[in-house]
Amino acid sequence: MANRGGFSSRIGFIVAAAGSAVGLGNIWKFPYEVGQNGGAMFLLVYLICTFLICFPIMIGEIAIGRRAQKDAYGSYKSIGGKKWGTIGLFGILCGIMILSFYNVVAGWAFGYFLEISFGDLLQSEDFRSFFGGYVSDIWDNLIFSICFMIITAFIVVKGVSGGIERASKILMPMLYVILLGLIVYSLTLDNAIEGIKFYLLPDISKLNLETIYSALGQAFFSLSLGMGALITYGSYIDKKQNIISSAAMISVMDVSVAFLAGLLIFPLVFSQGQTPSEGPGLVFVALPGVFNAMGPVIGKVVGGGFFLLLCFAALTSTISLLEVPVAYLVDEKKLPRKAVVWMLAAFIFIVGLPSMLSQGAVESFSSLGFYGDKSFLDFVSEVFSDISLPLGGCLMSIFIAVKWKTQNLSDEISEGNESYKGSFMEKAINLILVYVSPILLGLIFINTVLDKFF
Ligand code: PFF
Repeated sequence: MANRGGFSSRIGFIVAAAGSAVGLGNIWKFPYEVGQNGGAMFLLVYLICTFLICFPIMIGEIAIGRRAQKDAYGSYKSIGGKKWGTIGLFGILCGIMILSFYNVVAGWAFGYFLEISFGDLLQSEDFRSFFGGYVSDIWDNLIFSICFMIITAFIVVKGVSGGIERASKILMPMLYVILLGLIVYSLTLDNAIEGIKFYLLPDISKLNLETIYSALGQAFFSLSLGMGALITYGSYIDKKQNIISSAAMISVMDVSVAFLAGLLIFPLVFSQGQTPSEGPGLVFVALPGVFNAMGPVIGKVVGGGFFLLLCFAALTSTISLLEVPVAYLVDEKKLPRKAVVWMLAAFIFIVGLPSMLSQGAVESFSSLGFYGDKSFLDFVSEVFSDISLPLGGCLMSIFIAVKWKTQNLSDEISEGNESYKGSFMEKAINLILVYVSPILLGLIFINTVLDKFF
């Protein structure tokens, strides 16, 4: 991807986009969001959001990128004029802010891989205190997140088509295998059934605005939507690709990894007597217990392997997050790619420092008085991901509805899919993009802002 050459193949694109989608959002964020927002009810709303709202939005993003063959800002601008480019700029800002905290959490996963494989984490008496101590330790955090950002930048400089496409083809199936293996194991534990009930039996009384907005935000975050990542990736594919089936594959892969992560975590949480509403520490507290129970040698291998795969999953996502602002500066400002990548990586790392210090290291970042005493990391994640990504999706739908027009969208999609025009799929997608998404997402956005800030 070092120039506008594009992905090497259809599979290359799907793997890269699925790599962008599958990441910490599925294995770290999804389970703790389920845990905090009413279990199965959250899962249900999340699935509805994914297939009803996000799937058409993904198709819209890929089509815009492929039509314009430009970065997020340039795509909106070249189709709709400068004013519409603002949506792209907003997405780029979200990408920068999301990467700033994402990289911190990726650093935790990297640290856990090392501590489990080569340290004595599994001998710890209390995994919750271990996690608390771990994330408030400035030095470990600094070192690991710097490492993560450097590796990300290094790959983005080189371009993703060679190494990362090939690596993802091996690593993604491995992630499935290790998840499935662990699920089988966790289902045999005492009380596992309580976890399954919590995760799979919806309780209607848990349905409220908070659940809906969190599930919606999670669906956007998990599918890498609403900030132009898929516009950028879509700009690298050729006209022969079938956008609908590619988007379907990406969505199914993403949802299945999140679903499996929940199926693993909740039996563990209940069998170990932990609370599902633990928050961002959930997987870091729940998983070591099971690795510990496997015995010192197997635990180290399986536990280390799990966190290493999590790091790879995170890496294919950080790459796409960094690619969004990089593509903008390269395409629009004609700056040299290599310099842009390193400059942005350094800048975003610095922007992430308050998030890093907000897990106990610095009190004023850990508990923001103006934001319900939540941490700075929570604040950035809620504002730039949970709230802003659905807003980005809403604006994109409006762009298609009033500026680009569904006729042009259909023309673009049918380039790689002749039977698209006149199909049920076409009608459904147009209906959702023109009416459902702008109205529903708009209302939820207004409600959430009023609820959170006023
Ligand atoms: N989808 C990624 C995850 O679930 O971990 C996070 C992400 C990547 C969000 C890329 C947005 C993005 F553009």
